[in-house]
Amino acid sequence: STPYEFLLTSKPAPGVALVTLNRPKALNALSSPLFIEINAAMNEFDNDDDVKAIVLTGSEKAFAAGADIKEMRDKTYADVYKNNFLENWGLLTKVRKPVIAAVSGYALGGGCELALMCDIILASPTAKFGQPEINIGVIPGGGGSQRLAQVVGKSRAMEMVLTGRMVSAEEAERWGMISRVVTEGSVVNEAVKMASVIASKGALSVQAGKEVVNAAYELTLNEGLRFERRIFHGLFATKDQKEGMTAFAEKRPPNFTHE
Ligand code: CAA
Repeated sequence: STPYEFLLTSKPAPGVALVTLNRPKALNALSSPLFIEINAAMNEFDNDDDVKAIVLTGSEKAFAAGADIKEMRDKTYADVYKNNFLENWGLLTKVRKPVIAAVSGYALGGGCELALMCDIILASPTAKFGQPEINIGVIPGGGGSQRLAQVVGKSRAMEMVLTGRMVSAEEAERWGMISRVVTEGSVVNEAVKMASVIASKGALSVQAGKEVVNAAYELTLNEGLRFERRIFHGLFATKDQKEGMTAFAEKRPPNFTHE
């Protein structure tokens, strides 16, 4: 009963939403209509009080094989510049709730960039990450160069962007691109489990935690530390802070009410 043409959506566990890219014939190539649906689903769940964390996944064969090359082929500079092509991809990073990418198979080009826009990446041993745009005469356009350089450093980002080589799940883990590799076939389950753990916490402190970690990528250290401390101070105005600390002192589990 999903309202989407290229997505499946569900609530596999309390507090958890699952968004599955479902354009199998094109290996989940990220066409404009598909990305509009991704943004709509993310917005839907970001505004759904019953949802505390979101898992984004693809198929066993492909998380997503990139932007849709056939859709892009005939576009002119005037088209893409005038419409600021791919600008709407960044909406994903405005989602306030945690988004966990569960990656199996190909995460290439825009697919790799989509995973990098999520907050946490879990990978199947079958996952292959790459920025192969160089093979088709372009460069990453969905933030890949910037986010890769941040997470894997200059030499590895240059190698990926300039050679187009695919990186294995094991290599991506070693490089710090992803949290961890899980056993084959279990990546969605593991991501839902992790999302359930997050969903069991106080939603305000989870939102604050996401906000401050993201600030580390935009602010200087001093600004970031100041921002963190102010947000930390602000949480003392919440019931969840009183409840969490009281529950600890009373040696019982907390009952967060998300206020
Ligand atoms: N765009 C459009 N269609 C795509 C696609 C893409 N990115 N990736 C795969 N497909 C389509 C194929 O054209 C094919 O369709 P047909 O059956 O109609 O021919 C179908 O999906 C299955 O793909 P293959 O037959 O190629 O499957 P394979 O198993 O032989 O190869 C693959 C898999 C290595 C991932 C190969 O499909 C591939 O190299 N895909 C393109 C990867 C790529 O270059 N991605 C970067 C895109 S540019 C980008 O993303 C820009 C940006 O930064 C935003």
